[in-house]
Amino acid sequence: MPRMPFTASATHTALMDHHARACQWRMADLFAQDPLRAQAFSLEAAGLFLDYSKNRIDRTTVALLVALARECGVAQQRDAMFAGARINTTENRAVLHTALRAPRGHTLRLDGRDINADVHAVLDQMRLFSDQVRTGAWRGCQGQAMTDIVNIGIGGSDLGPKMACQALRPYGHPRLTSHFISNADGNDLAALLPRLNPATTLFIIASKTFTTAETMMNAQTARTWFLRQHPHTGDLKKHFVAVSTNTPAVQAFGIAPENMFPFWDWVGGRYSLWSAIGLSIMLAIGFDHFAQLLAGAHALDRHFQEAPLERNLPVLLALIGIWNRNYFQDASLSIAPYHQDLKYFPAYLQQLEMESNGKQVACDGTPLAAPACPVIWGNVGTNGQHAYFQLLHQGADVVPVDFITALQPAHDLPGHHTALLANCFAQSEALMLGKNAGQASAEMQAEGNSAPAIAALLPHKLFPGNRPSNTLLLETLSPARLGALIALYEHKTFVQGVIWGINSFDQWGVELGKVLAKQIHAELAGAAVSNQHDSSTHGLIARARAATLQ
Ligand code: F6P
Repeated sequence: MPRMPFTASATHTALMDHHARACQWRMADLFAQDPLRAQAFSLEAAGLFLDYSKNRIDRTTVALLVALARECGVAQQRDAMFAGARINTTENRAVLHTALRAPRGHTLRLDGRDINADVHAVLDQMRLFSDQVRTGAWRGCQGQAMTDIVNIGIGGSDLGPKMACQALRPYGHPRLTSHFISNADGNDLAALLPRLNPATTLFIIASKTFTTAETMMNAQTARTWFLRQHPHTGDLKKHFVAVSTNTPAVQAFGIAPENMFPFWDWVGGRYSLWSAIGLSIMLAIGFDHFAQLLAGAHALDRHFQEAPLERNLPVLLALIGIWNRNYFQDASLSIAPYHQDLKYFPAYLQQLEMESNGKQVACDGTPLAAPACPVIWGNVGTNGQHAYFQLLHQGADVVPVDFITALQPAHDLPGHHTALLANCFAQSEALMLGKNAGQASAEMQAEGNSAPAIAALLPHKLFPGNRPSNTLLLETLSPARLGALIALYEHKTFVQGVIWGINSFDQWGVELGKVLAKQIHAELAGAAVSNQHDSSTHGLIARARAATLQ
């Protein structure tokens, strides 16, 4: 269905006027004026609590943003996605990662197929396999149980499983160590292989297309390494399994058909951890915990489908993002998980949001009238505080922050968790309050500084404040809460894509580099160097060729 750019809507005009007023606000004043502000701008669903009160918003802002979502057809597009409409128009595909976490028996047909039955058949296959590996019933070529699981994949076939395995490490199987190999850079695999015993190692070759250059190269290297030590090719089936949509390519690679875990073209790579791509997660945490991960995501799906837009977590998170990006022109968003086990969450969100919405044309191919996805970046707190938070507090650019933490730790070391939470809450308060000249001078006076010293230091001691953030609280980082958290950001990304008018489910922007790399790869390997290269690229190729020849 043709979609109007959000900038052409009447609500956008009203939001522009409203923004002109909002620029004058200080959040600190808004808090002082309204003791119920935190209550008014917070929401809880699927075990996630979101406090979005530390944003440059008032009730009118939220009402206008929700009106914008309505005008842009967010609810209709959401329903179309859940119903299996081919909303990925440039690839003519449905977008049904939500079907991967629907309970058994949930009715959904796509092109005449009962996809709920398909999904649960693969889950059963994964369950059988992961139970065998975890109990030790699955024996390697020398009769031993597996000790190491190596997931070879990249992008969505790596980031989601790697993030979830780290996030849920307290639930990990004590005998099994998970490894993730993604980069074409052999330094990674070369460092890992000597630490592995091939007779107790299981490789999962995870690739939706089974054509991705990095994955195929790493898979071949792993296969060669294995066969060098166990030359009988019949042993491969005890140590290599595949997850893919491409059965012929999996068979051509030499993986036994019974060792293939399928999924479908209606699962986007960056939305695939719920599918068989999550096999490494299930192996680590077991079927029951994996089922809880799915159930947590499903609970959030239900909330997204059923809650009114003004009380809808992903919708509000998306709208706050639109307000910051398109009205305040904030060009990046920092993700600050105050939980070491979420250390890969910012990298995971980078692919989710930037590969989905890092685009400049609308669904119909016309240029976007306004910029879309901000740059997503970040790292765990409190580490970030001792690195780049300086810029967040005093840099020229305003960078909104999403703080994410769990109220209960997964450890029992005394004192640590209170310190962690104190830092998390203090950062959002400091970003919002800032420090003015009066406060800074008074502090320096109290420390006994002279008037000239105070005058010289004062500009350096000021914090502009009024810097926006969201805080997301989980009770614990359990499988169910992690599932809900991931689904929250998936749907946030979707809602923003709808408002920006873009197809969030293709990724044509990754293709050009892949094609050029193929050509340059051949040239570095000895083929004649094209004279079509620019002088920079030509020079780099020449230097690399000279270095390898030495
Ligand atoms: O190159 C980008 C991309 O296609 C991602 O969208 C995807 O997650 C990743 O590569 C890996 O793709 P595959 O699972 O097909 O190997």
